[in-house]
Amino acid sequence: MKTDNKQKYLYIEGCNSISLAKKYGTPLYILSQRKIEERCIKIKDVFSNKFENTSAFYASKAFLTMAMCKIIEKQGLGLDVVSGGELYTALKAEFPTSNILFHGNNKSYEELSLAIENNISRIIVDNIYELKLIEEISSELHKKTNILFRLTPGVTSITHKHIDTGRKDSKFGIPLEIDTILEAVKVALDSNNINLKGFHFHLGSQLFDNITYLKAIDIVFELIKFLKDDINFTTEELNTGGGYGVSYQKKEIEKPLEYFIESIMERVYKNCNEYKLIIPKVSIEPGRWIVAHAGTTLYTIGNIKEISGIRTYAAIDGGMTDNPRPSLYGAKYFGEIANKIDQEKKYKVTISGKCCESGDILIEDLDVPKITPGDILAVYSTGAYNFSMASNYNKNIRPAVVLVKDGESEIIVERQSYEDLLRGERLPKEFKNLK
Ligand SMILES: Cc1ncc(COP(=O)(O)O)c(C=O)c1O
Repeated sequence: MKTDNKQKYLYIEGCNSISLAKKYGTPLYILSQRKIEERCIKIKDVFSNKFENTSAFYASKAFLTMAMCKIIEKQGLGLDVVSGGELYTALKAEFPTSNILFHGNNKSYEELSLAIENNISRIIVDNIYELKLIEEISSELHKKTNILFRLTPGVTSITHKHIDTGRKDSKFGIPLEIDTILEAVKVALDSNNINLKGFHFHLGSQLFDNITYLKAIDIVFELIKFLKDDINFTTEELNTGGGYGVSYQKKEIEKPLEYFIESIMERVYKNCNEYKLIIPKVSIEPGRWIVAHAGTTLYTIGNIKEISGIRTYAAIDGGMTDNPRPSLYGAKYFGEIANKIDQEKKYKVTISGKCCESGDILIEDLDVPKITPGDILAVYSTGAYNFSMASNYNKNIRPAVVLVKDGESEIIVERQSYEDLLRGERLPKEFKNLK
Protein backbone atom coordinates (compact mmCIF):
# COMPACT_ATOMS: atom_id res chain seq x y z
CA MET A 1 0.00 0.00 0.00
CA LYS A 2 1.85 3.12 1.19
CA THR A 3 5.13 2.79 -0.57
CA ASP A 4 7.39 5.43 0.77
CA ASN A 5 6.85 8.04 3.42
CA LYS A 6 9.12 11.03 3.90
CA GLN A 7 7.99 13.71 6.40
CA LYS A 8 4.46 14.85 5.79
CA TYR A 9 4.02 13.91 2.14
CA LEU A 10 3.37 10.55 0.56
CA TYR A 11 6.24 9.45 -1.67
CA ILE A 12 5.75 6.82 -4.34
CA GLU A 13 8.88 5.24 -5.81
CA GLY A 14 10.88 8.27 -4.71
CA CYS A 15 8.41 10.74 -6.23
CA ASN A 16 6.60 13.28 -4.08
CA SER A 17 2.92 12.58 -4.71
CA ILE A 18 1.95 16.23 -4.14
CA SER A 19 4.43 17.37 -6.79
CA LEU A 20 3.00 14.74 -9.15
CA ALA A 21 -0.53 16.02 -8.47
CA LYS A 22 0.63 19.59 -9.22
CA LYS A 23 2.58 18.64 -12.31
CA TYR A 24 0.03 16.34 -13.97
CA GLY A 25 -3.26 17.41 -12.32
CA THR A 26 -5.82 15.25 -10.55
CA PRO A 27 -7.40 12.77 -10.70
CA LEU A 28 -4.20 10.97 -11.60
CA TYR A 29 -3.36 7.30 -11.94
CA ILE A 30 0.18 6.53 -10.78
CA LEU A 31 1.75 3.22 -11.67
CA SER A 32 4.91 1.82 -10.13
CA GLN A 33 7.01 -0.04 -12.68
CA ARG A 34 9.08 -1.66 -9.94
CA LYS A 35 6.02 -3.20 -8.30
CA ILE A 36 4.86 -4.73 -11.57
CA GLU A 37 8.34 -6.08 -12.21
CA GLU A 38 8.58 -7.53 -8.70
CA ARG A 39 5.33 -9.42 -9.21
CA CYS A 40 6.48 -10.79 -12.57
CA ILE A 41 9.77 -11.92 -11.02
CA LYS A 42 7.85 -13.63 -8.23
CA ILE A 43 5.73 -15.49 -10.81
CA LYS A 44 8.88 -16.68 -12.53
CA ASP A 45 10.50 -17.76 -9.24
CA VAL A 46 7.45 -19.55 -7.90
CA PHE A 47 6.01 -20.92 -11.13
CA SER A 48 7.50 -20.69 -14.59
CA ASN A 49 11.18 -21.11 -13.69
CA LYS A 50 10.41 -23.57 -10.93
CA PHE A 51 8.17 -26.06 -12.73
CA GLU A 52 9.01 -27.54 -16.11
CA ASN A 53 6.77 -27.03 -19.11
CA THR A 54 4.76 -24.12 -17.70
CA SER A 55 4.02 -20.61 -18.84
CA ALA A 56 2.56 -17.46 -17.34
CA PHE A 57 0.42 -14.88 -19.10
CA TYR A 58 -0.63 -11.47 -17.83
CA ALA A 59 -4.42 -10.96 -18.12
CA SER A 60 -4.26 -7.60 -19.79
CA LYS A 61 -7.89 -6.66 -19.09
CA ALA A 62 -6.67 -5.63 -15.62
CA PHE A 63 -4.64 -2.76 -17.10
CA LEU A 64 -3.44 -2.40 -20.66
CA THR A 65 -1.45 0.23 -22.43
CA MET A 66 1.41 -0.11 -24.89
CA ALA A 67 3.84 0.71 -22.07
CA MET A 68 2.40 -2.14 -20.01
CA CYS A 69 2.87 -4.51 -22.96
CA LYS A 70 6.53 -3.53 -23.04
CA ILE A 71 7.00 -4.05 -19.29
CA ILE A 72 5.40 -7.50 -19.51
CA GLU A 73 7.36 -8.43 -22.62
CA LYS A 74 10.63 -7.43 -20.94
CA GLN A 75 9.77 -9.71 -18.03
CA GLY A 76 9.19 -12.60 -20.46
CA LEU A 77 5.56 -13.20 -19.59
CA GLY A 78 2.89 -13.76 -22.21
CA LEU A 79 -0.24 -11.67 -22.68
CA ASP A 80 -3.89 -12.66 -22.51
CA VAL A 81 -6.18 -10.41 -24.53
CA VAL A 82 -9.94 -10.47 -24.69
CA SER A 83 -11.00 -8.17 -27.51
CA GLY A 84 -9.90 -6.81 -30.84
CA GLY A 85 -8.95 -3.58 -29.05
CA GLU A 86 -6.67 -5.31 -26.56
CA LEU A 87 -5.13 -7.34 -29.37
CA TYR A 88 -4.62 -4.19 -31.44
CA THR A 89 -2.85 -2.53 -28.48
CA ALA A 90 -0.55 -5.54 -28.14
CA LEU A 91 0.15 -5.57 -31.88
CA LYS A 92 0.92 -1.84 -31.90
CA ALA A 93 3.34 -2.41 -29.01
CA GLU A 94 4.93 -5.19 -31.11
CA PHE A 95 4.26 -7.74 -28.42
CA PRO A 96 5.38 -11.15 -29.77
CA THR A 97 2.23 -12.78 -31.14
CA SER A 98 3.69 -16.19 -30.35
CA ASN A 99 3.06 -15.32 -26.70
CA ILE A 100 -0.51 -13.99 -26.90
CA LEU A 101 -3.71 -15.84 -25.92
CA PHE A 102 -7.07 -14.64 -27.17
CA HIS A 103 -10.13 -14.96 -24.89
CA GLY A 104 -13.73 -13.81 -25.03
CA ASN A 105 -17.22 -15.28 -24.94
CA ASN A 106 -18.41 -13.68 -28.18
CA LYS A 107 -15.45 -12.94 -30.41
CA SER A 108 -16.48 -11.45 -33.72
CA TYR A 109 -15.45 -12.60 -37.18
CA GLU A 110 -13.25 -9.50 -37.48
CA GLU A 111 -11.60 -10.06 -34.11
CA LEU A 112 -10.91 -13.71 -34.87
CA SER A 113 -9.56 -12.79 -38.31
CA LEU A 114 -7.17 -10.26 -36.75
CA ALA A 115 -5.95 -12.93 -34.32
CA ILE A 116 -5.56 -15.64 -36.93
CA GLU A 117 -3.90 -13.37 -39.51
CA ASN A 118 -1.36 -12.42 -36.87
CA ASN A 119 -0.66 -16.02 -35.85
CA ILE A 120 -1.40 -15.47 -32.21
CA SER A 121 -0.35 -18.37 -30.06
CA ARG A 122 -3.69 -19.78 -28.84
CA ILE A 123 -7.35 -18.92 -29.19
CA ILE A 124 -9.29 -19.94 -26.11
CA VAL A 125 -12.52 -21.11 -27.69
CA ASP A 126 -15.62 -20.34 -25.69
CA ASN A 127 -18.31 -22.16 -27.68
CA ILE A 128 -19.08 -24.22 -30.78
CA TYR A 129 -20.32 -21.23 -32.75
CA GLU A 130 -16.90 -19.63 -32.31
CA LEU A 131 -15.19 -22.89 -33.25
CA LYS A 132 -17.01 -22.87 -36.58
CA LEU A 133 -15.97 -19.27 -37.24
CA ILE A 134 -12.34 -20.16 -36.50
CA GLU A 135 -12.54 -23.13 -38.83
CA GLU A 136 -13.94 -20.93 -41.61
CA ILE A 137 -11.39 -18.12 -41.18
CA SER A 138 -8.44 -20.48 -40.77
CA SER A 139 -9.40 -22.36 -43.89
CA GLU A 140 -9.76 -19.10 -45.90
CA LEU A 141 -6.36 -17.94 -44.67
CA HIS A 142 -4.75 -21.39 -45.07
CA LYS A 143 -3.77 -21.47 -41.42
CA LYS A 144 -3.78 -24.09 -38.73
CA THR A 145 -5.00 -22.39 -35.55
CA ASN A 146 -4.03 -23.63 -32.11
CA ILE A 147 -6.91 -23.66 -29.68
CA LEU A 148 -7.89 -24.58 -26.12
CA PHE A 149 -11.52 -25.03 -25.09
CA ARG A 150 -12.70 -22.93 -22.17
CA LEU A 151 -14.65 -25.13 -19.76
CA THR A 152 -16.93 -24.18 -16.90
CA PRO A 153 -16.21 -26.98 -14.49
CA GLY A 154 -19.24 -26.28 -12.30
CA VAL A 155 -17.48 -25.06 -9.16
CA THR A 156 -18.49 -22.02 -7.16
CA SER A 157 -15.93 -19.67 -5.65
CA ILE A 158 -16.20 -17.45 -2.62
CA THR A 159 -16.21 -14.04 -4.26
CA HIS A 160 -18.70 -11.53 -5.61
CA LYS A 161 -21.15 -13.20 -8.02
CA HIS A 162 -20.17 -10.82 -10.82
CA ILE A 163 -16.63 -12.19 -10.75
CA ASP A 164 -17.44 -15.85 -10.07
CA THR A 165 -17.04 -17.57 -13.44
CA GLY A 166 -16.56 -21.29 -12.81
CA ARG A 167 -20.24 -22.05 -12.12
CA LYS A 168 -22.22 -24.09 -14.62
CA ASP A 169 -24.68 -21.19 -14.86
CA SER A 170 -22.13 -18.88 -16.46
CA LYS A 171 -22.06 -16.93 -19.69
CA PHE A 172 -18.50 -18.14 -20.23
CA GLY A 173 -17.23 -21.40 -21.64
CA ILE A 174 -18.59 -24.84 -22.40
CA PRO A 175 -20.37 -26.50 -19.46
CA LEU A 176 -18.45 -29.56 -18.42
CA GLU A 177 -20.87 -32.19 -19.71
CA ILE A 178 -19.28 -35.09 -21.50
CA ASP A 179 -21.61 -35.16 -24.52
CA THR A 180 -21.27 -31.44 -25.23
CA ILE A 181 -17.52 -31.50 -24.90
CA LEU A 182 -17.08 -34.69 -26.85
CA GLU A 183 -18.99 -33.11 -29.72
CA ALA A 184 -16.78 -30.00 -29.60
CA VAL A 185 -13.60 -32.05 -29.40
CA LYS A 186 -14.65 -34.17 -32.37
CA VAL A 187 -15.43 -31.09 -34.49
CA ALA A 188 -11.98 -29.72 -33.65
CA LEU A 189 -10.20 -33.00 -34.35
CA ASP A 190 -11.99 -33.43 -37.67
CA SER A 191 -10.79 -30.03 -38.88
CA ASN A 192 -7.63 -29.65 -40.95
CA ASN A 193 -7.34 -26.04 -39.84
CA ILE A 194 -7.61 -26.46 -36.10
CA ASN A 195 -5.13 -27.89 -33.68
CA LEU A 196 -6.77 -28.67 -30.33
CA LYS A 197 -4.11 -28.43 -27.64
CA GLY A 198 -6.21 -28.78 -24.50
CA PHE A 199 -8.44 -26.99 -22.02
CA HIS A 200 -8.79 -23.82 -20.03
CA PHE A 201 -10.79 -22.73 -17.02
CA HIS A 202 -10.96 -19.45 -15.13
CA LEU A 203 -12.87 -19.74 -11.89
CA GLY A 204 -13.30 -16.11 -10.92
CA SER A 205 -11.46 -13.15 -9.57
CA GLN A 206 -10.38 -12.06 -6.08
CA LEU A 207 -10.11 -15.66 -4.84
CA PHE A 208 -8.45 -16.29 -1.50
CA ASP A 209 -8.94 -20.03 -1.30
CA ASN A 210 -7.25 -22.73 -3.39
CA ILE A 211 -10.05 -25.25 -2.88
CA THR A 212 -11.98 -24.29 -6.00
CA TYR A 213 -8.84 -24.62 -8.14
CA LEU A 214 -8.23 -28.10 -6.76
CA LYS A 215 -11.83 -29.18 -7.31
CA ALA A 216 -11.77 -27.84 -10.85
CA ILE A 217 -8.51 -29.64 -11.62
CA ASP A 218 -9.95 -32.95 -10.40
CA ILE A 219 -13.08 -32.45 -12.48
CA VAL A 220 -11.15 -31.50 -15.62
CA PHE A 221 -8.81 -34.46 -15.19
CA GLU A 222 -11.80 -36.82 -15.18
CA LEU A 223 -12.58 -35.38 -18.60
CA ILE A 224 -8.97 -35.62 -19.77
CA LYS A 225 -8.88 -39.27 -18.71
CA PHE A 226 -12.22 -39.95 -20.40
CA LEU A 227 -11.03 -38.40 -23.68
CA LYS A 228 -7.83 -40.42 -23.55
CA ASP A 229 -9.69 -43.70 -22.99
CA ASP A 230 -12.63 -43.01 -25.30
CA ILE A 231 -11.07 -41.38 -28.35
CA ASN A 232 -7.34 -41.52 -27.54
CA PHE A 233 -7.11 -37.75 -27.34
CA THR A 234 -4.05 -36.50 -25.46
CA THR A 235 -4.46 -33.19 -23.64
CA GLU A 236 -1.20 -31.34 -24.16
CA GLU A 237 -2.08 -28.14 -22.33
CA LEU A 238 -4.11 -27.04 -19.32
CA ASN A 239 -4.62 -23.35 -18.57
CA THR A 240 -5.86 -22.79 -15.02
CA GLY A 241 -6.77 -19.09 -15.41
CA GLY A 242 -6.07 -16.27 -12.99
CA GLY A 243 -7.99 -14.98 -10.02
CA TYR A 244 -5.46 -14.81 -7.16
CA GLY A 245 -6.85 -12.38 -4.61
CA VAL A 246 -5.13 -9.22 -3.40
CA SER A 247 -5.70 -7.21 -0.22
CA TYR A 248 -7.27 -3.83 -0.79
CA GLN A 249 -7.54 -2.93 2.86
CA LYS A 250 -5.15 -3.22 5.77
CA LYS A 251 -7.24 -5.88 7.50
CA GLU A 252 -7.31 -8.24 4.50
CA ILE A 253 -4.54 -10.83 4.42
CA GLU A 254 -3.25 -11.78 1.02
CA LYS A 255 -2.29 -15.43 0.46
CA PRO A 256 1.22 -15.85 -0.93
CA LEU A 257 1.42 -16.89 -4.56
CA GLU A 258 3.02 -20.20 -3.51
CA TYR A 259 -0.20 -21.12 -1.72
CA PHE A 260 -2.03 -21.25 -5.06
CA ILE A 261 0.73 -22.41 -7.37
CA GLU A 262 2.13 -25.26 -5.32
CA SER A 263 -1.25 -26.78 -4.65
CA ILE A 264 -2.28 -26.40 -8.31
CA MET A 265 0.89 -28.10 -9.53
CA GLU A 266 0.72 -30.85 -6.92
CA ARG A 267 -2.86 -31.60 -7.88
CA VAL A 268 -2.00 -31.74 -11.59
CA TYR A 269 0.88 -34.17 -10.90
CA LYS A 270 -1.29 -36.28 -8.60
CA ASN A 271 -4.01 -36.65 -11.24
CA CYS A 272 -1.51 -37.48 -13.98
CA ASN A 273 0.07 -40.06 -11.76
CA GLU A 274 -3.21 -41.68 -10.75
CA TYR A 275 -4.61 -41.76 -14.27
CA LYS A 276 -1.25 -42.57 -15.92
CA LEU A 277 -1.43 -39.54 -18.18
CA ILE A 278 1.35 -37.39 -19.58
CA ILE A 279 1.72 -34.12 -17.69
CA PRO A 280 0.23 -31.33 -19.78
CA LYS A 281 1.85 -27.93 -20.09
CA VAL A 282 0.30 -25.85 -17.30
CA SER A 283 -0.41 -22.13 -17.73
CA ILE A 284 -1.68 -19.40 -15.44
CA GLU A 285 -3.03 -15.97 -16.33
CA PRO A 286 -3.26 -13.61 -13.36
CA GLY A 287 -4.17 -9.97 -13.96
CA ARG A 288 -5.08 -8.27 -10.70
CA TRP A 289 -2.29 -10.00 -8.77
CA ILE A 290 0.33 -8.47 -11.07
CA VAL A 291 -0.85 -4.90 -11.29
CA ALA A 292 -3.28 -3.99 -8.48
CA HIS A 293 -0.72 -2.89 -5.89
CA ALA A 294 1.33 -1.03 -8.48
CA GLY A 295 -1.40 1.60 -8.80
CA THR A 296 -2.29 4.62 -6.66
CA THR A 297 -4.88 7.22 -7.64
CA LEU A 298 -4.58 10.83 -6.50
CA TYR A 299 -7.64 13.05 -6.13
CA THR A 300 -8.18 16.60 -4.93
CA ILE A 301 -10.75 17.02 -2.19
CA GLY A 302 -13.30 19.75 -2.85
CA ASN A 303 -16.61 20.12 -1.06
CA ILE A 304 -16.75 18.82 2.50
CA LYS A 305 -20.31 18.27 3.68
CA GLU A 306 -21.04 17.58 7.33
CA ILE A 307 -24.46 16.13 8.13
CA SER A 308 -24.72 16.52 11.84
CA GLY A 309 -25.04 13.23 13.68
CA ILE A 310 -24.91 11.24 10.43
CA ARG A 311 -21.67 11.55 8.48
CA THR A 312 -19.22 13.83 6.73
CA TYR A 313 -18.82 13.52 2.98
CA ALA A 314 -15.58 14.60 1.33
CA ALA A 315 -16.14 15.00 -2.40
CA ILE A 316 -13.30 14.28 -4.81
CA ASP A 317 -12.69 15.32 -8.40
CA GLY A 318 -13.12 11.74 -9.69
CA GLY A 319 -15.14 8.72 -8.63
CA MET A 320 -16.99 5.92 -10.38
CA THR A 321 -15.73 7.12 -13.75
CA ASP A 322 -12.09 6.36 -12.91
CA ASN A 323 -12.84 3.56 -10.40
CA PRO A 324 -16.20 1.88 -10.96
CA ARG A 325 -15.48 -1.14 -8.74
CA PRO A 326 -16.99 0.17 -5.48
CA SER A 327 -20.28 1.08 -7.15
CA LEU A 328 -20.25 -1.99 -9.41
CA TYR A 329 -19.73 -4.66 -6.79
CA GLY A 330 -19.05 -3.04 -3.46
CA ALA A 331 -15.24 -3.21 -3.70
CA LYS A 332 -13.45 -1.67 -0.72
CA TYR A 333 -10.38 0.53 -0.96
CA PHE A 334 -8.00 2.18 1.48
CA GLY A 335 -6.66 5.70 1.20
CA GLU A 336 -4.76 8.44 3.00
CA ILE A 337 -4.42 12.19 2.81
CA ALA A 338 -1.19 12.43 0.84
CA ASN A 339 -0.21 15.90 2.11
CA LYS A 340 -0.95 15.04 5.78
CA ILE A 341 0.56 11.60 6.00
CA ASP A 342 2.17 12.39 9.38
CA GLN A 343 -1.02 13.65 11.04
CA GLU A 344 -3.13 11.70 13.45
CA LYS A 345 -6.32 10.27 11.92
CA LYS A 346 -8.94 11.52 14.34
CA TYR A 347 -11.91 11.85 11.99
CA LYS A 348 -14.00 9.66 9.72
CA VAL A 349 -15.18 10.75 6.30
CA THR A 350 -16.99 9.11 3.42
CA ILE A 351 -15.33 9.78 0.10
CA SER A 352 -17.91 10.66 -2.52
CA GLY A 353 -17.33 10.84 -6.26
CA LYS A 354 -18.55 13.65 -8.48
CA CYS A 355 -20.96 11.64 -10.63
CA CYS A 356 -24.72 12.06 -10.55
CA GLU A 357 -25.34 8.77 -8.78
CA SER A 358 -25.89 8.43 -5.04
CA GLY A 359 -24.00 5.15 -5.32
CA ASP A 360 -20.87 6.96 -6.44
CA ILE A 361 -19.12 6.45 -3.11
CA LEU A 362 -15.47 5.48 -3.28
CA ILE A 363 -14.70 4.74 0.38
CA GLU A 364 -17.01 4.67 3.38
CA ASP A 365 -15.83 5.80 6.83
CA LEU A 366 -12.19 6.43 6.04
CA ASP A 367 -10.04 7.51 8.99
CA VAL A 368 -8.40 10.85 8.19
CA PRO A 369 -6.78 13.80 9.95
CA LYS A 370 -8.60 17.17 9.82
CA ILE A 371 -9.17 17.76 6.12
CA THR A 372 -9.74 20.93 4.12
CA PRO A 373 -10.60 21.53 0.46
CA GLY A 374 -7.47 21.21 -1.66
CA ASP A 375 -6.08 18.25 0.27
CA ILE A 376 -4.88 15.38 -1.89
CA LEU A 377 -6.38 11.94 -1.31
CA ALA A 378 -4.28 8.92 -2.33
CA VAL A 379 -6.23 5.71 -2.91
CA TYR A 380 -4.03 2.63 -2.91
CA SER A 381 -3.98 -0.57 -4.99
CA THR A 382 -5.91 0.93 -7.88
CA GLY A 383 -3.72 -0.60 -10.60
CA ALA A 384 -6.20 -3.29 -11.67
CA TYR A 385 -9.62 -2.79 -13.25
CA ASN A 386 -9.63 0.99 -12.66
CA PHE A 387 -8.09 2.60 -15.74
CA SER A 388 -9.30 -0.34 -17.86
CA MET A 389 -12.90 0.05 -16.62
CA ALA A 390 -12.96 3.85 -16.69
CA SER A 391 -15.84 5.63 -18.44
CA ASN A 392 -16.75 9.13 -19.51
CA TYR A 393 -20.05 9.19 -17.62
CA ASN A 394 -21.24 12.77 -17.08
CA LYS A 395 -18.64 13.63 -19.74
CA ASN A 396 -15.89 13.46 -17.15
CA ILE A 397 -12.49 13.15 -18.76
CA ARG A 398 -10.29 10.12 -18.13
CA PRO A 399 -7.25 10.89 -15.95
CA ALA A 400 -3.67 10.58 -17.15
CA VAL A 401 -1.52 7.59 -16.23
CA VAL A 402 1.98 8.33 -14.97
CA LEU A 403 4.63 5.65 -14.65
CA VAL A 404 7.04 6.13 -11.74
CA LYS A 405 10.41 4.51 -11.21
CA ASP A 406 13.51 5.49 -9.20
CA GLY A 407 12.30 9.03 -8.47
CA GLU A 408 11.37 9.71 -12.11
CA SER A 409 7.89 10.09 -13.54
CA GLU A 410 6.71 9.79 -17.11
CA ILE A 411 3.27 10.07 -18.73
CA ILE A 412 2.18 6.83 -20.40
CA VAL A 413 -1.40 7.91 -21.09
CA GLU A 414 -2.34 11.55 -21.51
CA ARG A 415 -5.26 13.07 -19.64
CA GLN A 416 -8.22 13.31 -22.00
CA SER A 417 -9.29 16.76 -23.14
CA TYR A 418 -12.79 18.06 -23.76
CA GLU A 419 -11.99 17.78 -27.49
CA ASP A 420 -11.30 14.07 -26.93
CA LEU A 421 -14.79 13.73 -25.49
CA LEU A 422 -16.35 15.02 -28.68
CA ARG A 423 -14.02 13.16 -31.06
CA GLY A 424 -16.16 11.15 -33.41
CA GLU A 425 -19.37 13.07 -32.71
CA ARG A 426 -21.22 14.46 -35.73
CA LEU A 427 -24.08 16.94 -35.97
CA PRO A 428 -26.96 15.76 -38.15
CA LYS A 429 -27.46 17.73 -41.39
CA GLU A 430 -30.43 19.59 -39.88
CA PHE A 431 -28.21 21.28 -37.25
CA LYS A 432 -24.97 21.64 -39.15
CA ASN A 433 -25.29 25.33 -39.87
CA LEU A 434 -26.37 26.36 -36.40
CA LYS A 435 -23.94 28.53 -34.48
C1 LIG B 1 -10.24 -15.73 -18.71
C2 LIG B 1 -9.65 -14.87 -17.66
N1 LIG B 1 -8.37 -15.08 -17.29
C3 LIG B 1 -7.77 -14.32 -16.35
C4 LIG B 1 -8.45 -13.30 -15.73
C5 LIG B 1 -7.74 -12.48 -14.71
O1 LIG B 1 -8.33 -12.52 -13.47
P1 LIG B 1 -7.59 -11.80 -12.25
O2 LIG B 1 -7.35 -10.40 -12.65
O3 LIG B 1 -8.52 -11.94 -11.12
O4 LIG B 1 -6.33 -12.54 -12.04
C6 LIG B 1 -9.79 -13.05 -16.06
C7 LIG B 1 -10.55 -11.99 -15.40
O5 LIG B 1 -11.68 -11.74 -15.60
C8 LIG B 1 -10.41 -13.87 -17.05
O6 LIG B 1 -11.66 -13.66 -17.44
